[in-house]
Amino acid sequence: MTTHSEETRRETWSSRVAFVLAAAGSAIGLGNVWRFPYLAGQNGGAAFVFIYLAIVLLIGLPVMIAEVGLGRFTRRNPVGAFARAAPASGWRTVGLLGVITGFGILSYYSVVAGWTLIYTVQAASGTFATLTDPGQTGRLFEHLVGDARTVLTFHALFLTLTVAVVIGGVRRGIERWTFILMPVLLLMLLLLVLRSLTLEGAAKGIAFYLNPDFSKVTPVTFLVALGQAFFSLSLGMGVMITYGSYLSEREDVVVAAVSVTLFDTLAAFLAGLVIFPALFTVEGVEPTQGAGLAFVVLPAIFHRIPLGNLFGTLFFALLTVAALTSAISLLEVCVAYLTDEKGWTRKRACYLVGLVSFTLGIPAALSTGASTFLSRLPLVHIGFLDLMDTIFGNLALTLGALLLCLFVGWRWAPEDALTGAMEGSAYPGLRRPWLLLIRYLCPLAIGTILLQLLMKLFVQG
Ligand code: PHE
Repeated sequence: MTTHSEETRRETWSSRVAFVLAAAGSAIGLGNVWRFPYLAGQNGGAAFVFIYLAIVLLIGLPVMIAEVGLGRFTRRNPVGAFARAAPASGWRTVGLLGVITGFGILSYYSVVAGWTLIYTVQAASGTFATLTDPGQTGRLFEHLVGDARTVLTFHALFLTLTVAVVIGGVRRGIERWTFILMPVLLLMLLLLVLRSLTLEGAAKGIAFYLNPDFSKVTPVTFLVALGQAFFSLSLGMGVMITYGSYLSEREDVVVAAVSVTLFDTLAAFLAGLVIFPALFTVEGVEPTQGAGLAFVVLPAIFHRIPLGNLFGTLFFALLTVAALTSAISLLEVCVAYLTDEKGWTRKRACYLVGLVSFTLGIPAALSTGASTFLSRLPLVHIGFLDLMDTIFGNLALTLGALLLCLFVGWRWAPEDALTGAMEGSAYPGLRRPWLLLIRYLCPLAIGTILLQLLMKLFVQG
């Protein structure tokens, strides 16, 4: 049991705005700026955007409300939250799954974030001014991410930045940096949208992005969209439980969750408006290119764009900042667990999680060229980084979200769940629809998609 003094010692955000900015910072990340546009490009442009929006509204938002509510009600890290809401039950294991997922995602996320740092430096030093086609930028990409020393250095550098912020605590670390980084991020995003939309030929890109091609929609599209929604909204592993636990009881969970969801979705949509018009200014560039879109295709067009170097640098700086505010939240989940449950000091927890994530990230960092074995693992035939992303960034989040819905909808519900998530809300009319979604639609939809995912992995693969 915790004592009253422990309760009062727990830090809180200074305001709802602080929570919304920090949670939006977690949500807006590589998932929005890098992954969302290429997934939309591969899956039918606007058709994908529509499906994604529906999933965010019907599944993402209710799960977000549930997570923030559970956190605010229990004032604990994910493990402690489940343990408090259902004492002496096995549910705390779900929280533990979240913490482990946090370690897993942080380790490889920081590798990719390291690439964005490398690219910021490259763009700023004018490298892309001399590269004129995707063949050249592709070779540069392979060269950079295939060099062990480079990737490991920037992986370490990025993690060090993350630790430096989180070590300061909720208010003096996370909140303070959020207030600096989020406006910068928004400004950079808006500048880039303006640049892209005023390029010659922008209309073609917008047409591709906003004209739905429903012939590309298959059951897999839903799977991809749901996975992307969880990843992008930072759901299914306890980030929102942890951030919600620092939210004051007076705050309206629904309003906070809706704001975060809106911000995140808007950022993803805007990232598409940056990428597609830019792509279509050059003949023969394929918007369906996939993961290489931001690192290979885009750098090949900077030389064609007025002030391209500047905007290229801005683009990769945007990616880095977005990744940093997300990595902060991943680290905070692990740190909150170690300080709440194990009584560690924040400093010790930060150093340890940073070190473990660095080590865990080494094979991922070496799997994009430096090691042939890690770049194409036996049996699964994918690289280690992709494997980590499949296991932690996709499977574990989906499973975590499913278990959370079952817990909040059936084990914790209805009174406590409604109190936790909805008490004091300015929108009491949402109580019933929310409960219905969390009990029926969400688990059914997520369960179906999880089954599909497992079949795809084990049956075909
Ligand atoms: N939401 C982040 C992004 O879009 C990634 C993330 C996933 C962060 C899960 C925390 C938890 O990049």
